[in-house]
Amino acid sequence: MKIGIITGASSGIGKEFVIQVSQKETLDEIWVIARRKERLEELRTLIQTPLRILALDLTKQESIEEVQALLQKESPDLRILVNASGFAKFGTYRDLSLEEVNGMIDLNCKAAVDLTQISLPYMGHGARILEICSAAGFQPLPGINVYAATKAFLISYTRALRWELIGRGITATAVCPQWVKTEFMAVGQDTQNGKTVNHFLRLAANPKHVVACALFDNAIGLPIAAFGPFGLFHLACAKFIPHFIIIAAWELLRRV
Ligand SMILES: NC(=O)c1ccc[n+]([C@@H]2O[C@H](COP(=O)([O-])OP(=O)(O)OC[C@H]3O[C@@H](n4cnc5c(N)ncnc54)[C@H](OP(=O)(O)O)[C@@H]3O)[C@@H](O)[C@H]2O)c1
Repeated sequence: MKIGIITGASSGIGKEFVIQVSQKETLDEIWVIARRKERLEELRTLIQTPLRILALDLTKQESIEEVQALLQKESPDLRILVNASGFAKFGTYRDLSLEEVNGMIDLNCKAAVDLTQISLPYMGHGARILEICSAAGFQPLPGINVYAATKAFLISYTRALRWELIGRGITATAVCPQWVKTEFMAVGQDTQNGKTVNHFLRLAANPKHVVACALFDNAIGLPIAAFGPFGLFHLACAKFIPHFIIIAAWELLRRV
């Protein structure tokens, strides 16, 4: 049985991945994961590929174990894994609770790595992994410090994993968009001080475009998917300009 696994499928980027993967890949099933079951059920009306609904909170270890047990039971040919479950909480260290900070680390880092780890035994030659990271991970970012750090972790993890997988013919890509129009900002700003970041919210990209580019970049084997001229410019700046200069510029920009 050929399958795909897509997390964060109830909204935004993950939901768009479900739609585009179902159009582009011949799969017997897509396993869709997020907490909101009714949102996952709604996907059935949008695509033809059969769905397996897994309404799970991926910050819980038992959810990872449930997916692992299902993989062991079905022993599928896993063709594509997209880890899109993730969230930010905007604010400085003063504004965020321990629960918010740990939630970001548990979901954006631990759950993504755990799911990748339990998926790899079921992936063969030509299989694809897309870890949804963020351009926020290109450098440290005060005001969304922990979120940016989780994404830096995931970028680093994905880039090294890509090399570890070369012999198996599996392509892993760190997908690094800037702002995208989804529920992300509403979730991010719902904190004690969600106004630590203002300006870029007006420049958000369409998830359709982001997902199409990400699938293309992964298909041609790119380690990092950055989007459009501004995304590439940002990636180049983060690589060649000292981070303290970029952080200083960000400190001005985020208040505008
Ligand atoms: N939008 C942006 O500007 C942007 C930019 C760069 C990177 N990203 C990254 O893109 C990814 C997708 O975000 P999005 O923009 O599509 O935001 P979104 O619309 O808020 O979607 C987030 C998804 O994560 C799921 N999720 C949240 N907590 C979860 C949990 N505990 N267990 C399982 N699933 C959980 C949500 O589903 P439930 O609530 O139903 O669980 C939802 O499906 C994230 O990793 C985000 O960091 C977003």
